Amino acid sequence: MKFDILTLFPNSFAPLTESIVGRARENGKLDINLVDIREFSKDKHKKCDDTPYGGGEGMVMTPQPLWDAIESVKKRDSHIIYLTPKGEKLTQKLVEKIAEHKNIVLICGHYEGIDQRVIDNFVHQEISIGDYVLTGGELPAMVLVDAVSRLIPEVLGNENSAQNETFSNNLLEFPQYTKPSEFKSMKVPEVLLSGNHKEIEKWRLEQSEQLTKDRRPDLMSCSTQIIFKTQTKEKTVERVVQFLKSPNRKTFFNNICKSFNIQEDKLTNEDFLEYATQQTEAVWEIRRSDMENLENIYQNKWNNISNEIFEKFESFFGEKLEKQKLMAYIWPAMVCPYDNTGFYVSSYIQGERWNNILKTSIHEIIHQFWWQIWDTIFAGQVDKLKYEYPSVSWFLSEIAIDIVGENSGLNSYYDKNNSYDTFYNIKIQGRNLMQEMNLIYSQSKNLINFMKNGYEFLQKNIDEFLNEYNK
Ligand code: ADE
Repeated sequence: MKFDILTLFPNSFAPLTESIVGRARENGKLDINLVDIREFSKDKHKKCDDTPYGGGEGMVMTPQPLWDAIESVKKRDSHIIYLTPKGEKLTQKLVEKIAEHKNIVLICGHYEGIDQRVIDNFVHQEISIGDYVLTGGELPAMVLVDAVSRLIPEVLGNENSAQNETFSNNLLEFPQYTKPSEFKSMKVPEVLLSGNHKEIEKWRLEQSEQLTKDRRPDLMSCSTQIIFKTQTKEKTVERVVQFLKSPNRKTFFNNICKSFNIQEDKLTNEDFLEYATQQTEAVWEIRRSDMENLENIYQNKWNNISNEIFEKFESFFGEKLEKQKLMAYIWPAMVCPYDNTGFYVSSYIQGERWNNILKTSIHEIIHQFWWQIWDTIFAGQVDKLKYEYPSVSWFLSEIAIDIVGENSGLNSYYDKNNSYDTFYNIKIQGRNLMQEMNLIYSQSKNLINFMKNGYEFLQKNIDEFLNEYNK
């Protein structure tokens, strides 16, 4: 990675010869080229600033020296950044984006800033390092170089240390301890000495969450919290039995039988319950450690991406989501139902596991929002509509969720393959249902209208729809 740093004060950059950044430069992982803007000035006194047109305090950097300095270093793929308190605020996420560029040009302003024409012509991105005003862009440039450099592979000693820490998952980092285990009578928390990695991970996540809640609630502000937890054996049995008693939910029914090695012809016996429980418990036991290992993996992955998802989601709906906590129960079946305690995600999916979890989670958040809308349309009936099966409202929200995914860009987070096959193939009056629904969506002025119109359409064709769905 190469930085060209354009500055009037190249001597200020001595700190970038020290420590990790200094070593990265010596190893050839990082190339920093300091360019003295003054050397490009065509003025006989090498002047680089002048008074602002229109009057006002201070001086502005003149365009000519800066223009020529930029021209001298600029390559086809250069990403040009101007450091200014007016810029977009630097965050770890932004640092990660910037680190994707190979050639970065940093412009350090001074005085009251630089001539706008230089910005308009060259600058891709204006960045501020915080809501305070410094005397120039040199310190901000060093902050940026430092933060970006440590993401270059092998610049940090331990590959993991760039990943795990504060901010990359919107949580502050957990407390760290080192030897000795007891110092001035203060002991290191027991769990860290236990060698039990699962317990340690759990402790660290709890610490991170508590710390973030106390100190930086803003980092957690927009997230509906999703908590990933292995479903208990008892609840798993309860759910399985419930599905087995509803053979009209064909997709679910078949999947449940497959996931828990349940033979359909044995379900007619009087000892139905005993048989189903035994099969379910056996599979649950076998998969238990796999499910428990997935808790942290799923949780971290979700925390990493959730804010981004909520931003997209809220900008699509144009309003904030109600704050809520959702449980995501990890269980050993392939189907992902939901009930009034949370939704289910699978520990047992062929292919890209996380892709499915993400899809289910996004789906579920949209679903939750959906019920808020339902409440305004069918006041008082929501609970009845919500869990009744088969119900038109349930189908409609399934379809609508897909339409929302398409139109909000949220579907870019997951692979749509086979997620809605059943719906995609349904034909009503010889026409493809999803196409009809999309048509209704484009004719409805807003989502609420779409829900009303879509509901009417499905209700009118309910017999054909159910027939097709259960084929
Ligand atoms: N120049 C002066 N103050 C600055 C800040 N906060 N961020 C970036 N550049 C600056």
